[in-house]
Amino acid sequence: MRKIDVFDTTLRDGEQSAGINLNTAEKLEIAKQLERFNADVIEAGFPASSQGDFEAVKKIAQTVKGSIITGLARSVKSDIDTSWEALKYGEQPHIHIFLATSPIHMTHKLKKTPDQVVEIAVESVKHAKKKFPLVQWSAEDAFRSDPEFLIRVVKEVIKAGATTINLPDTVGYATPSEYGAMFRHLKENVPGIDRVKLSAHCHNDLGMAVANTIAAIENGADQVEGTINGLGERAGNAALEELAVALHIRKDKFTFGTDVKLDEIKRTSQLVSQLTGMAIQANKAVVGKNAFAHESGIHQDGMLKERTTYEIITPELIGENSTQLVLGKHSGRHAFKNRAIELGFELSDEKINEAFKNFKVLADKKKEISEDDLYVLLTDQQIQE
Ligand code: KIV
Ligand code: ZN
Repeated sequence: MRKIDVFDTTLRDGEQSAGINLNTAEKLEIAKQLERFNADVIEAGFPASSQGDFEAVKKIAQTVKGSIITGLARSVKSDIDTSWEALKYGEQPHIHIFLATSPIHMTHKLKKTPDQVVEIAVESVKHAKKKFPLVQWSAEDAFRSDPEFLIRVVKEVIKAGATTINLPDTVGYATPSEYGAMFRHLKENVPGIDRVKLSAHCHNDLGMAVANTIAAIENGADQVEGTINGLGERAGNAALEELAVALHIRKDKFTFGTDVKLDEIKRTSQLVSQLTGMAIQANKAVVGKNAFAHESGIHQDGMLKERTTYEIITPELIGENSTQLVLGKHSGRHAFKNRAIELGFELSDEKINEAFKNFKVLADKKKEISEDDLYVLLTDQQIQE
């Protein structure tokens, strides 16, 4: 099986969703969970964008060692230098530099000619390479770029030392066959491209981000970028939990997969939703509250006879608790603590006691405490630990 690297950008592109603003403690908590989820690369933020983001990226690079930590930078020396100060603590310092390559962006946003864009791209990669062993270069709006210009600029940044080339569909305009064809075209026309990692980054404006990402893998991408719960600019990015589960469930078809810890999906999704304040839509694939609910009589009857009639994913696969033990106002501290451990929380006795007290208050108001309630109560304590 070909292993596909997972690049998580929940803390950068995800945080660019309207209405989200995470502080350092919240970002660190999510980064630690993304490490458990087994993301290969975590984009922790955009260090030059604000002092707060700089501090958060630095703290994550100092603390999280099981995943490569990266940060976004514009193609300017000051952004790259600032990023180094935050990212130098990583085991393998990694930077993600971007520059737009489509005619629309070069003309109206950058006001640069294609020749100038190539020059800036090469200079920024060379500058980054003086310090960073790992340099990812992104052709922003790659999908709407002229294919021959894309080949030219990619050839040059590889010569300058880029170790990963990312080809985003920045505005979510591509269809799967078109996005896949762009990867194939580059694979076939850029000498030396096999020495670098090729990365896919899709937005979901037309609802095709996950399908487009899979098409990119089928045509040579080695890395996929996305976010938890599909957060991100406008309609969001490819949802990593959907992608990882799709590759797993259809392993009869695909010859590639990720190393994502699927049973960490529920917890990761829950934590991200709680700390960002972005609710998960009920019918969202994989993590929505209705993803495993069967309403109609015919479906319920089928499920009772044989689950596989209507169930292709089990809740257990994504780490959703399947035990029948219901927690309510009569439950004791012991059962509460056991459930916390089952859900993957490692809290001190003091924090368990605090969470248990809050649980009792809630249990007086509600007949049954749902698993989502427990995540909220326990996460509240974890964030203070
Ligand atoms: O969508 C995009 O093009 C981006 C780049 C900064 C990589 O997020
Ligand atoms: Zn993006």
